[in-house]
Amino acid sequence: MAEIKVAESAGFCFGVDRAVKLVYSEIEKGNKNVATLGPIIHNADVVNDLQSKGVRIVDSVAELRNDETAVIRSHGVGRDIYCQLEKKGNSYIDATCPFVARIHKIVREKTNDGYFILIAGDKKHPEVQGIVGHCDENCFVFKDEFELREFFSKKNEKMKKKLAIVAQTTYNILVWGECIKVIPKDDENILVFDTICNATSQRQSDASLLSKEVDAMIVVGGKNSSNTIKLYNVCCENCPSYHIENARELYELDLNNADKIGITAGASTPAYIIKEVQNTMDEIFDFEKELEQSFKKVHTGERVKGYIAAVNNSEAIVDIGTKHTGYVPLAELTDDQTKKPSDIVSVGDEVDLIVTKINDQEGIVMLSKKKVDELVGFDNIAKAKDEDAVLEGTVLNVVKGGILVSVDGVRVFVPASQTGLGRDKNLDELLKKNVELKIIEVNESRRRAVGSIKAVTKAQKEAAKAAFWETAEEGKTYKGEVKSLTSYGAFVDLGGIDGMVHISELSWSRIKHPNQVVKVGDILEVYIKELDKEAGRISLGYKKAEDNPWTKFQDSYNVGDVVKATIVSITPFGAFAKIIEGVDGLIHISQIADKRVDNVNEVLSVGQEVDVKITEIDIESKRISISIRALLENAAEEADAEETDAE
Ligand code: F3S
Repeated sequence: MAEIKVAESAGFCFGVDRAVKLVYSEIEKGNKNVATLGPIIHNADVVNDLQSKGVRIVDSVAELRNDETAVIRSHGVGRDIYCQLEKKGNSYIDATCPFVARIHKIVREKTNDGYFILIAGDKKHPEVQGIVGHCDENCFVFKDEFELREFFSKKNEKMKKKLAIVAQTTYNILVWGECIKVIPKDDENILVFDTICNATSQRQSDASLLSKEVDAMIVVGGKNSSNTIKLYNVCCENCPSYHIENARELYELDLNNADKIGITAGASTPAYIIKEVQNTMDEIFDFEKELEQSFKKVHTGERVKGYIAAVNNSEAIVDIGTKHTGYVPLAELTDDQTKKPSDIVSVGDEVDLIVTKINDQEGIVMLSKKKVDELVGFDNIAKAKDEDAVLEGTVLNVVKGGILVSVDGVRVFVPASQTGLGRDKNLDELLKKNVELKIIEVNESRRRAVGSIKAVTKAQKEAAKAAFWETAEEGKTYKGEVKSLTSYGAFVDLGGIDGMVHISELSWSRIKHPNQVVKVGDILEVYIKELDKEAGRISLGYKKAEDNPWTKFQDSYNVGDVVKATIVSITPFGAFAKIIEGVDGLIHISQIADKRVDNVNEVLSVGQEVDVKITEIDIESKRISISIRALLENAAEEADAEETDAE
């Protein structure tokens, strides 16, 4: 469809607009006796409308009825017409354009000052005739630079006078430029008045500009309108141009070869006619487009644009601008079998498609969106490889040796070794998951791509590590997940980097294995005890000072206190007994009884609860001595004392 552009300035000028409005306003005032001296403008539609409202057109004052109000149109008239009107006694409305009236004033004044008047214009044009009518026969009208040159070449009487040169308001600016070159320079007896109306020159220069950028110009205006004819001539210099009076004439033109068409209009063309021309052109081109589309062929494998006309559960129905009905089955919309067509496209969407099958007899075309997505997606994938960019995709299938990930509609193979899963893990774990990956290999000719999830996680880990080391300091606390346990401690992931909590740091109590306190997957709050940035080693602390059982013991117990303790272990030299959780005391073999004990096991057993007396506390060495014997001796002494008292 051709592009249509209207010139910046086109149509009714100020003077014509004013004249037409004056007539309509007179009718609206109820004056039924209005007559214009000649057609008010060179536009049949406007003139016909005024006539239908009772406005008469007369050619002369003599034709006026006595009761009629005469309208002098924008072209203006000579002095004789004013005299005739006054003599006949008719009222009149002077709609002479102020720019034309200015020329009348110039020629009158200069005539009175003894100048001879030269008028550039068409001597048959009413405006020029009006100007002549203000010169008292003291003028010469020339049509172009040739006639002007001829005037200067003749050594006639008029040449001896002072000269004043004016131009018809609608005079062609290009010809005026040529005329100026002909006028003798620096002659103080020659005055030049550029009286070409700005509206005219503006229309002409806009039309000239536009006609240089389009393939054809439509010039709208009355066939007798001199300014329209001049516009037409200006346009003809740059491209094929057509002068029409109304939109109906467009149908007779052959504009098939024009991709870009310009429109301009003469000063007497109302805006609604320009709009009509524009609309009719749109209609013509729309029709041609439809006609063209009905013959348009499509071919298998061709890439086309389409508009989604309807969507149901199994397909999308598409208008591809031909007589065919286009169908895109769900499987050709997406790879994702969990989605419905309406998840992918909506009515009105413009989509790029590839023709997969044509059935001319039934008027059906089968199309694929997925294939276009793949083409576009593959380009993006190749670009992502060059840029080492991270892409997102969904794991579609587990295949031999790895997984297939859908990235922008393209299937990217990720080898098992690049999934980031350990060898013992099942790749099915990744199914339907969204993953981030980098492209590590592209085969353009086979349109295959290989990706790596591991490359992304590795990079992420490295970034996390770098960030960790930047901020890590002793004493700083972290929340981390227990990743693994060994006999000597637990490894905790601090967010990309592992630290170790030594077994002795896991509990204040004596434990044999970390699994007595934590298990893999537990989230611990730990703090950095020691950092070795160079070796990349981090020792973590887990026990809290406030939980230290030795502190608790110190706060609550003193030498001499009698407490209950539970035997936790037996050795050849005595037995250890738990006083509180995390604090054991030693009952030396000599302190087990008030008699000699050779074998601790004969007296005590693990788990047995005994009363003991605290005999010594050494917090620094974490040693506590407790004694059963001290209690027994105390009891014996007390018994002796009671006996003595009784005696
Ligand atoms: Fe007046 Fe210029 Fe129009 S002279 S009538 S405004 S073209």
